[in-house]
Amino acid sequence: MRKPMMAANWKMNLIPAEATLLAQAIRAAVAEVSSVDSVLCPPYLALANVHHTVQGSTIAVGAQNVHWAESGAYTGEISVPMLKGLAEYVIIGHSERRQYFAETDETVNKKLHAVLNHGLFPIVCVGETLAQNDAGDTHAVVSAQVKAALAGVEGSRLAQVVIAYEPIWAIGTGRAATAAQAQATCGKTVRGTLAELYGDEIAQSVRVLYGGSTNAKNIGEIMQQPDIDGALIGGASLKADEYSSMVQTTAALYKANASTR
Ligand code: PGA
Repeated sequence: MRKPMMAANWKMNLIPAEATLLAQAIRAAVAEVSSVDSVLCPPYLALANVHHTVQGSTIAVGAQNVHWAESGAYTGEISVPMLKGLAEYVIIGHSERRQYFAETDETVNKKLHAVLNHGLFPIVCVGETLAQNDAGDTHAVVSAQVKAALAGVEGSRLAQVVIAYEPIWAIGTGRAATAAQAQATCGKTVRGTLAELYGDEIAQSVRVLYGGSTNAKNIGEIMQQPDIDGALIGGASLKADEYSSMVQTTAALYKANASTR
């Protein structure tokens, strides 16, 4: 059984002191929950604070972006070696980065290789626009993104990889995909593409998250889908109570599922 993950994407919110307070509140609420991987992804400036705040707990830390080079003349960028010791996970290819910062399938792939080579865990984001969804192109678009992101990645590395399906029309809009839509793309498209590339066994071992307007109300239904192993949570993760409740709901479902196997 794949271990569920609730990854909090705080985006460009919170000064370090605020991030510390939020991490403290989340730690207090979910410290006992070891059956779910909670991953907090603050802005870079708050990484050290959040890292110190959750140290010794079950909570992990992630960065929201990274550069692929080890070091060099890339003003304003952060490399994977700089994240080591502060973050275990790195979000790669979030649609906001693709949309506003010219991130492409090619840069996503370079970043993925850099993160894997340094032993960190990438959370690779894929997802279609509303127009692509309306045109019935979701499967083709998302499958192509998964293939491009993973180009040149050996099957043995897949245990390190997390994939987040985030339909762009559902991000920050309050309009989440239905559980059935999310399941269809996470299952048939994302896991199906992984099976095509690496075979069934590896495809079944990779964690696939859904993201886009998840909250304490809809997380239960989403987490009951067989191919969805967690969520990448934006807005709702900025509220300690709501995020913690999502972790608790997920833990309860996981426990119920485990006892029926
Ligand atoms: P949202 O963001 O939960 O606010 O829709 C999700 C994300 O962008 O990862």
